[in-house]
Amino acid sequence: MCGILGFSGKGPVRKIISRGLKALEYRGYDSCGYAFLSEGVVCVNKKTGKGGTDELVSEIPEYSDRRICVISHTRWATHGKVCLENAHPHRDCKNEIALVHNGIIENYARLKKELEQKGHIFSSDTDTEVIAHLFEEEAKKMPFRKAVLKSLNKLDGTFALLVLRKGCSEIIGARKGSPLFAGVKGKDFFISSDINSIVNYTDEIMFLEDGDMFAIGDEMEILDFVKKESVKRSFSRIKSGVQSTAMGNFESYMQKEIFEQPAALVSTFNSLCKELARYMEIVDTVPGRITIVGCGSSWHAGLIGEYMMEKLLRIPVEVEYASEFRYRNPVFLPDDLVVSISQSGETADTLGAVKEAKKKAKLLSICNVHNSSIPGESNYALYTQAGPEIGVASTKAFTAQIAALYFLNLLLALKMGLIKEYSLEKKIEEFSATAKKIRCIFSMLPDMEKIADKLKDKSNALFLGRGIHFPVALEGALKMKEVSYIHAEGYPAAEMKHGPIALIDENMPVVFISVRDRFSMKVISNMREVKARGGCIITVSDYIDDDILNISDEIINIPEAENEYLKPLLTVIPLQLLAYLTALKRDCDVDKPRNLAKCVTVE
Ligand code: AGP
Repeated sequence: MCGILGFSGKGPVRKIISRGLKALEYRGYDSCGYAFLSEGVVCVNKKTGKGGTDELVSEIPEYSDRRICVISHTRWATHGKVCLENAHPHRDCKNEIALVHNGIIENYARLKKELEQKGHIFSSDTDTEVIAHLFEEEAKKMPFRKAVLKSLNKLDGTFALLVLRKGCSEIIGARKGSPLFAGVKGKDFFISSDINSIVNYTDEIMFLEDGDMFAIGDEMEILDFVKKESVKRSFSRIKSGVQSTAMGNFESYMQKEIFEQPAALVSTFNSLCKELARYMEIVDTVPGRITIVGCGSSWHAGLIGEYMMEKLLRIPVEVEYASEFRYRNPVFLPDDLVVSISQSGETADTLGAVKEAKKKAKLLSICNVHNSSIPGESNYALYTQAGPEIGVASTKAFTAQIAALYFLNLLLALKMGLIKEYSLEKKIEEFSATAKKIRCIFSMLPDMEKIADKLKDKSNALFLGRGIHFPVALEGALKMKEVSYIHAEGYPAAEMKHGPIALIDENMPVVFISVRDRFSMKVISNMREVKARGGCIITVSDYIDDDILNISDEIINIPEAENEYLKPLLTVIPLQLLAYLTALKRDCDVDKPRNLAKCVTVE
């Protein structure tokens, strides 16, 4: 997703902007740029391609005796190809305005046509450039701040934007549906779409809200651009939850975050259990139905939660793609609980689903980022303690979400009297033991390297599982798609017979998840069906018998978890590692895969 960073002050501005842009890189970007006010003139510099921010910012003047205003941006293309013209900042006809934006202006085509009819000349294919020309047009008739205020009310869609204008020694900005945070240190002000890009300079943060428009010069003034009245917001010290994003001695963030999972899981589950009494109070009712909404890996985590909850609580659970749920005009029942799952807490589709549900149901969010938008819209929040997840492909956040769902399951079971509090200690020990078993899987890396050698030249792959391991198969396929660009599909193992089995031949590797549970023999039958058609079978299993040995071409034998509902924490690890290792062998960028963004803040 696009990243925005602004600074108004006298600090080491080149270092602030360069480090800030680097901290935004993990969101996925294809170009970057900045604008600054100098001697009353707006200067713009931008580039396509990754890296090179130190060189790019070297042209920003550094003054010791006066304030400078800078706005900068990393672009993840939504409208228009990757090229210098489409990189931000965007300008008006007279090059007096420079603007950066994150979001989507849905009525940009109509506005662009109206502005062209008034003589405006456009130099890009982006929706963002329309905003700059709209500001320019309105500023012909009124002071610039009023022109911005009026223009914002003409924009449909989502925006987090910053704008500079010749002769105005201030940064003006606004947000609607895309995150923006302000930071302050002394008289220096920071503005960003992601706290991680300013946390090195200040922990005094203000969370701007939809409808906020602000002007930052020597002071910061805020008003509601819809109600057209001033707004009071305060800076607050943020929790230490924003931790170091250093890669350490690892080769990539994805590798680091896969290996961090045992610690992240124990930290998540133990921190939630420590808060049990508080959660028992705030989650004040037992729902009659639970609807889980999320996207991507978070949606897969929700599917795993469904198996846990329906088995133990006997409460109906629906798992919905957030993007579908938000527009389906869903039917709500009086005692519904909607659980949103989001690592970033800023995914536009999930935020939209939460806002839709907020009108008619209690909301609980499972999230990895404190103070993000989605928990901010919810009645309750369960925070995972995975730490910042920088790799675009979710790994530790995904398993931490399973930990949070397992905790929620226990919390509701306690409230329903299905389990007693004294059994919690055993559950915590069981959970910790399972997390420790993940480390045993890391020692199998050499075996997985050999399997990755077989996968690296393939174009397709199937991932099959049954029961609670069907969503694990989906997640394994998503990881393989995301980082190695191999087309991989996840499927219920039994569903193979209803069509996809036509795909099986010697070129189709099939990864089976086969654990010791009530489906074991059924999975073996499905494996036989594939074997009979020449498929290459890679088996992830927590037990070995003659069938597994005779049918599998490759076996990854993982430790067994006593609790069947914790087994996904183990079966998903080899799938993460296979995707990671295969991607490396295909020279793919595992941290910033092509076309992807870490946080999808557009629809
Ligand atoms: C997962 O590997 C992907 N990066 C993506 O599917 C992600 O899970 C999805 O965009 C949801 O993100 P969120 O958890 O931050 O809401």
